[in-house]
Amino acid sequence: LPVVALISGGGSNLQALIDAQLAGLPIRLAAVISNRADAFGLERARRHGIATAVLDHRDYPDRDAYDADLQRLIDGYDPGLVVLAGFMRILTPAFVAHYRGRLLNIHPSLLPKFRGLHTHQRALEAGETEHGASVHFVTAELDGGPVILQARVPVLPGDDAATLAARVLEQEHVIYPTVAGWFAEGRLRLGEDGRPWLDGTP
Ligand code: GRF
Repeated sequence: LPVVALISGGGSNLQALIDAQLAGLPIRLAAVISNRADAFGLERARRHGIATAVLDHRDYPDRDAYDADLQRLIDGYDPGLVVLAGFMRILTPAFVAHYRGRLLNIHPSLLPKFRGLHTHQRALEAGETEHGASVHFVTAELDGGPVILQARVPVLPGDDAATLAARVLEQEHVIYPTVAGWFAEGRLRLGEDGRPWLDGTP
């Protein structure tokens, strides 16, 4: 299944998907697109011969213009699935609607808790004893789409945002390839009722 990944930074989730593809997951990363030219994830893609592109949002007058160009660029690769992997831009409703049911995101919290940024610090400040990550279909609501799979980790005494983030990230690298694989195998889709549909049990 041709997949396009959108990134903004280090791309460790992208790397997990690349590694999963090399291990036989039925996905084919067709392109990696970043809104930042300095995203290390672009280097990860280049090392594996995956096409890369940079679409700098500062070159655009507004979000609609940016998303329209981003959509054209993505569709040039005709992906069956688009994954946001550390992509730090809010997408327009038109863009999200165009990819309904084939646009995924990973968010470092147990949604619906802690939507938005700085989730690990906020979880610590809230005194959570458990935290984690969520893979969800992307809808117009920021970090609000239907959750497909979550991973839970304990918050340990002495944790700070960095140690907690590292523990969560490790789990992100497990659940994202798992969900991408389900989708590629045709086992997962977004139902008309807006809920994820997964045939059989994983
Ligand atoms: C991770 O916390 C991920 O949950 C969020 O972006 C952060 C960096 O991801 N989406 P990556 O290492 O760039 O994949």
